[in-house]
Formats: sequence, structure tokens, C-alpha cells
Amino acid sequence: MSEHVIIERQGPVQTIRMNRPDKKNALTRAMYQAMAEALRQGDADPAVRVHVFLGLPGAFSAGNDLHDFMAIATGGEGGLEVWNFLEALAGAQKPVLSGVDGIAVGIGTTLNLHCDLTFATPRTVFRTPFVDLGLVPEAGSSLLVPAVVGRQQAFALLGLGEGFSAEKALAAGLIYAVVTDDELEVTVLDAATLVASKPPEALKIARDLMLGPREPLLARIREEGKRFKERLKSDEARAALMAFMMRKKG
Ligand code: COA
Repeated sequence: MSEHVIIERQGPVQTIRMNRPDKKNALTRAMYQAMAEALRQGDADPAVRVHVFLGLPGAFSAGNDLHDFMAIATGGEGGLEVWNFLEALAGAQKPVLSGVDGIAVGIGTTLNLHCDLTFATPRTVFRTPFVDLGLVPEAGSSLLVPAVVGRQQAFALLGLGEGFSAEKALAAGLIYAVVTDDELEVTVLDAATLVASKPPEALKIARDLMLGPREPLLARIREEGKRFKERLKSDEARAALMAFMMRKKG
């Protein structure tokens, strides 16, 4: 269990809070592992009916920890934890909600593609600078984003790394609602309580029907993961990661 992920139960609602404030919730391998375990344990526990992802005020997540990427780019191993997390998330057996405030970069954006309801605040910007980092989309986003927003908006988000405001994400169908930062958590928890009040078997069948077979999505996540790992060792990625590290030193 990671000190940077707080798992709580409020009746049938399991909240998974990313809590690494000094790094704007950049996700470490231990954090992925903790979140994967929480999803799996919650899925296996009949007392849990819904999962809720939360971040911190102003920082949902700054994405994967770039030092972990750098470690792989320079010859280290790693990446199993993120795969384990994505498999648990894309395969979640119970509804998943999220409340997003502020920074939502990389997986801080793509995680929400696997949620049934995402609430975001007006100051939220969703951004996936994969290509700018010499990388490729992950978490099934190359499949899910075009399906939701169409080819051209998908190219803007995933290819150009354009930031999508909460309003734009709402209009594009990427999120469910925009609420003020004051109201965010109470709104998400109320929605989770409503979800948890539904007949669970009927809701599960309805959700499974809407999602369809998971295997094509899992196959895409694997394919993206393979390309992503190759790209991490590319000159383009190494240069972009080095630029981020140097920016922090300068
Ligand atoms: N990995 C590792 N550390 C990160 C990080 C990341 N993804 N994002 C932020 N941090 C760290 C910063 O290095 C900084 O650490 P320091 O105080 O030890 O120098 C701290 O978190 C605060 O970040 P800072 O850049 O000062 O905050 P900001 O509000 O000015 O900018 C971001 C926030 C998210 C816009 C900026 O940090 C950023 O662009 N991060 C990289 C995002 C990214 O590319 N993620 C991967 C996507 S695939």
C-alpha cells in the first residue's frame, strides 16, 4: 500500500484518492499498485458497489512520474504496475466515478475515459502531451477518444497535445458535468451514493451491455503499451524527458 494513495469506504462507496501534493499527484509505480489493488479488492467485496477516484484541490494528477519514465528510458525496467492498474481499471466490474479539479495530465486525463461519470471543475484542463514527449497515447485512449469525440478533436487532444477545458470536454462528451470546486466532492459522493442505491445486478448487466466485450480494449491497451515502451527508449523521448528534468534544475 502506498502512502500516496488513500483508500476509504463510506458505506458502499470506495474512494481512491491520489495524495502526493508536492508532486501534483504525479503517479509512481507504488501508487499504481495501490490503486490496482483497491479496484480488485473493491470488485471482490460485495459490500462495495462503486469506486470513486479523487485527487487534491487543484491537482487531479500530473500524470505518470517522469522520473520513472526516465529510469526506463535509460535502461531500467518497470511498467508492470501501470499495466496491472490499467487492466483492473478497464476490467472494473463495478461503476467507476471520478472528480477532477485542476491539473489532469496524461493518465490524469485518460483514467477518466474508463469512468462511468466524471465531474470536473471550471479550472480543470485535460491534457495528454504524449507526442510532445516522444511517446504515444496509452490506457486505450487511441481507441476510446476517437470513438467519443471523433477523429479531429481526438487528433487535437492526442496528437497536438491541445488542452481541453472542462467545458470543452463536456461538450465533446468526455465528461458528465462541470461543477464548482467547492461542490465537486460532495457532488461526486452524492452521485456515487445514487449509483450504489440501484439494484446492483441489473446495473452490472446494463453496464456490461453498454461497455460490450472488454477484450478489444485490453488488446489496444497492450498494443499501446508495447509501442509506449519502445518509444520510451527513443531519442525523441529521451530528449523531451531530459528537457523536463533540466527545466526543474534551471
Ligand atoms: N513527474 C514527476 N514530477 C512531476 C510531474 C511528473 N509528471 N509533474 C510535476 N512534477 C513535480 C515537479 O517536478 C515539481 O517538483 P519539484 O518541486 O521537486 O521541482 C512539482 O511536481 C510541482 O510541479 P511544478 O511544475 O512546479 O508545478 P506547476 O503547477 O508549475 O506545473 C504541471 C504543473 C503538471 C503543468 C507541470 O509540472 C508539468 O508539465 N508536469 C509534467 C506533466 C507530464 O508531462 N506528465 C506526463 C504525461 S504522459
